[in-house]
Amino acid sequence: LTAHATLDPAFRVAPVDRRLFGSFVEHMGRCVYGGIHEPGHPESDADGNRLDVLELTRDLGISVIRYPGGNFVSGYRWEDGVGPVSERPRRQDLAWRSIETNEFGLNEFMAWAKLANVEPMMAVNLGTRGIQEACDLLEYANHPGGTYLSDLRRKHGVEEPHAIKLWCLGNEMDGPWQTGHKTAEEYGRLAAETAKAMRQVDSGIELVACGSSNALMPTFGSWESTVLEHTFDYVDYISLHAYYEQHGQDRASFLAAAAGMDRFIDGVVATADHVSAKKKSRKKLNLSFDEWNLWQESRFAGHTNLDWEQAPRLIEDTYTVQDAVVFGSLLMSLLRHADRVAIACLAQLVNVIGPIRAEPDRPAWAQTIFHPFALTARHAVGDVLRVETATDLYDTAEHGDVPLVDVVATHDRESGQLTVFAMNRHTEDRARLEIDLRAFGDLVVTEHLHLGGEQDLDAVNSIETPQAVAPISVEGASIEGRRLTASLPPVSWNMIRFV
Ligand code: AHR
Repeated sequence: LTAHATLDPAFRVAPVDRRLFGSFVEHMGRCVYGGIHEPGHPESDADGNRLDVLELTRDLGISVIRYPGGNFVSGYRWEDGVGPVSERPRRQDLAWRSIETNEFGLNEFMAWAKLANVEPMMAVNLGTRGIQEACDLLEYANHPGGTYLSDLRRKHGVEEPHAIKLWCLGNEMDGPWQTGHKTAEEYGRLAAETAKAMRQVDSGIELVACGSSNALMPTFGSWESTVLEHTFDYVDYISLHAYYEQHGQDRASFLAAAAGMDRFIDGVVATADHVSAKKKSRKKLNLSFDEWNLWQESRFAGHTNLDWEQAPRLIEDTYTVQDAVVFGSLLMSLLRHADRVAIACLAQLVNVIGPIRAEPDRPAWAQTIFHPFALTARHAVGDVLRVETATDLYDTAEHGDVPLVDVVATHDRESGQLTVFAMNRHTEDRARLEIDLRAFGDLVVTEHLHLGGEQDLDAVNSIETPQAVAPISVEGASIEGRRLTASLPPVSWNMIRFV
């Protein structure tokens, strides 16, 4: 098996926006309570922030955090989460049939975001609520002072406005499971009017309209076009959500999950551009892939049988080496679309399908998927380069013909750093990767790391063995006559760096 590509620093897709390395914190399971916030834990500070989770968040290289949901936001009253903690109401959270104590709310989140050095991305409730409550929240958060709600924030001890720029207009409003689920017409109208009103409150914000909950939704495509007919002029982004898993024995399709992600992104770009053309607009609407990950969703018994627990253990999936390989390739898909995908959020950050796991009385630890994320966030810098990979295809039930080897590259003109990310999807054969680098000066390989290959593909990290799985350093990648040759083991995700 061979794969050939030619890289040229002049052929660029787009700069790598740091916002591609976002994540997501929802009031769900143990993501907030027992995840980022756990008063009394030996690793927590006086405010209950888990410092071990904060440190891992920074090590991951997270740039943006979407908050507070997710399905949760569609029944959330933001006012419950501000003011004296002792006076905050305990509520039913309808999305996850859990008890929400409201001990953690907007101001606690913003203090945490500052410590984590991340940009907040706030979602408003367009399920059970509407324009007024969205504007109220924005006024409370962003208006400097001299109005009832901005002065209330100051009374709550936050003198300076939070200056939150990124706002999501609801969550997965196309999903029948969503509290306050709407048709595309209903949501499109509401989102447009909410967007206009919110911009009156603060003209400096960026707004995300809800796209489809996944590419298999029966309304996918028509949902985007109807919603954008209404919102195109008032929003900055349309969202995408996707979770991938292996269905039954179909490993071939799972290894090609990034091909599904590519097609989903291309479909939304086409739909947004179609609406733009119809409107005779010159605006290019970008995408916010604000929930993505691997999730064994078919094993999740659903929302209806949950029983009003406080911070229950929900969907705490454990990720294998093979998962980390596929996960790394999803990041490659996002990078490949850096010209249109402006924001992406790995869902979620901790415990709930998280790269980080946290337990009472023990230090937090990193799952296998932590590694490709941290490495990509750190080393995908500068511009994404155009790559045409010539390699063999294989047939998959879910995605049709898919290349056996996938390659993405980034190049930083300032530092000269070139980074190649490559996945070999073949389950038995090594791939010989050859890259023509003649357009670059003299380069040397500084590092070749991989996950997969000779590692046990079922291996996982655990609280007892948190370091069991980590990327392996490989020898052998070489450059001769400005041509790279490297060997990619079967089922592997690779990162090769040069200067
Ligand atoms: O991330 C878990 C859930 O998945 C979110 O609440 C929802 O938006 C999506 O369906």
